[in-house]
Amino acid sequence: MRIAVLHGPNLNLLGRREPEVYGRQTLDDVNAALGVLARELGVQAEAYQSNHEGQLVDFVQQAAGRVDGFVVNAGAYTHTSIALADALAGVARPYVEVHVSNVFARERFRHRSYLAGNAVGVVSGFGLDSYRLGFRALVEHLQGQEEKQEATEVLSPKS
Ligand code: DQA
Repeated sequence: MRIAVLHGPNLNLLGRREPEVYGRQTLDDVNAALGVLARELGVQAEAYQSNHEGQLVDFVQQAAGRVDGFVVNAGAYTHTSIALADALAGVARPYVEVHVSNVFARERFRHRSYLAGNAVGVVSGFGLDSYRLGFRALVEHLQGQEEKQEATEVLSPKS
């Protein structure tokens, strides 16, 4: 199983950017923690960050062929990007939306997400742990799907 972790705009500034909101951990810390977790769970992981909407869309389209699902922190594009929402819906891979901060405790414009409606779930407000929780939840969701598929095949074999 392979998971892609997608980081949107300004997340390259984690650790330096508004530390009272986003904490002191850097994007490298996040990716390193997810690498450790991936090893623990016996799955593969890759991470990608871009400040550009079109590049995030391109990444989703290209990665979809090699990954089983996405962990997505789209940053501000969460609240604005129909293009990214369409890309994620279009490639039909399960994804979990994550946020470092609790977006629902912040400005009203952060309460709307174009991604949440099609997500397996949303984790928001736990700092770096939002990524860890979201990653683990996605892996368990995908494993659950695999088990269901296997049970269906046992109950109704193809030939
Ligand atoms: C964020 C929340 C967004 O509203 C904001 O634009 C970000 C980061 C978070 O992780 O808390 O860039 O996605």
